[in-house]
Amino acid sequence: MKKILVTGGLGYIGSHTVVELQNSDFEVLIIDDLSNTTMTVLDGITAITNKKPNFFKIDLKNKDAVANFFKENKVDGVIHFAASKAVGESVKQPLKYYENNINTLIYLLQEMEQNKVKNLIFSSSCTVYGQAKVLPITEKAPIKIAASPYGNTKQIAEEIIADATKVSDLKAIALRYFNPIGGHDSILIGELPIGEPQNLIPYITQTAAGIRKELSIFGGDYDTYDGTAVRDYIHVVDLAKAHVVALQRLFTKKQKAALEFFNIGTGKGSSVLEVIYAFEKANNKTLNYKIVSRRAGDITAAYADTTLANKELGWKSELTLEDALRSAWLWQEELKK
Ligand code: UD1
Repeated sequence: MKKILVTGGLGYIGSHTVVELQNSDFEVLIIDDLSNTTMTVLDGITAITNKKPNFFKIDLKNKDAVANFFKENKVDGVIHFAASKAVGESVKQPLKYYENNINTLIYLLQEMEQNKVKNLIFSSSCTVYGQAKVLPITEKAPIKIAASPYGNTKQIAEEIIADATKVSDLKAIALRYFNPIGGHDSILIGELPIGEPQNLIPYITQTAAGIRKELSIFGGDYDTYDGTAVRDYIHVVDLAKAHVVALQRLFTKKQKAALEFFNIGTGKGSSVLEVIYAFEKANNKTLNYKIVSRRAGDITAAYADTTLANKELGWKSELTLEDALRSAWLWQEELKK
């Protein structure tokens, strides 16, 4: 049984991926510093899979602790999720973002090299494309100057990994996620936004739950079919499964380059208004919303061309927007309990 270190394994995407890994007979070791999650997530994972992953409370900024972990635990591969991810916060605290997202990656890569761990899956983002000229976006689309320090950390991280693969045996896959939403249908794990949500779906569910008075739609004057911005919303369970197949690709030595990039999305764009209508329909709810001015740094439209992931990983998204919005709402109700 292959042993996989999942950093940030108690986070939103990390926890869903740990579930899929354990269901696919990987042994999982989680490192998380609990900076943006809680230990209850470990209970959720254990309840879903009947298997408790090994958990290590380690801050990846602690180089010695990372070195000790690798000394004491032999792993076959790493999925690296642990990172700060709030775009707005990254503008206000850029150094925190470079320290949390870049220093930690360097320590991790150094220890992987030292301990001959050769397989890495990295959490990247469609944010590297900025506003692409051509839609849907393929992996060949040019990388744009990042609109935020957060986005920049994803670009720099990809470059660091690329350079590391040139001088070592490291084999890596960077998965560029579009917009992950929803939660596990057991309703035992889901997204845990702390404070006022910045992302659309938690804002919608909190508005439907009465925690927020009204949803603001950021911009009604975009050049899209209904004037609201378009994104590719992918169910987090589909996204989690992409990590399992990417890992299998590395272990079966099918990769065609030392570092490969794959877009992970549905291939379908939805506008903010379409998401709202889909939420209302899927959950039989009415949402309070109003259109306000655009949010700084937002782009008009982004959705994935997933041909490469379909062909090379044999992966495609299966769950629908409605599935995701239903699970997001059930999770919101669960959080009340
Ligand atoms: C952003 C980041 C992305 C990051 C993701 C997760 C950019 C360009 N995108 O995605 O890299 O991985 O967050 O943190 O940096 N919206 C509203 N009202 C709200 C909230 C959102 O109308 O209250 C709209 C937004 O304007 C956008 C869409 O909903 O059009 C999705 O927003 P959001 O969920 O925040 O994701 P992105 O901004 O696409």
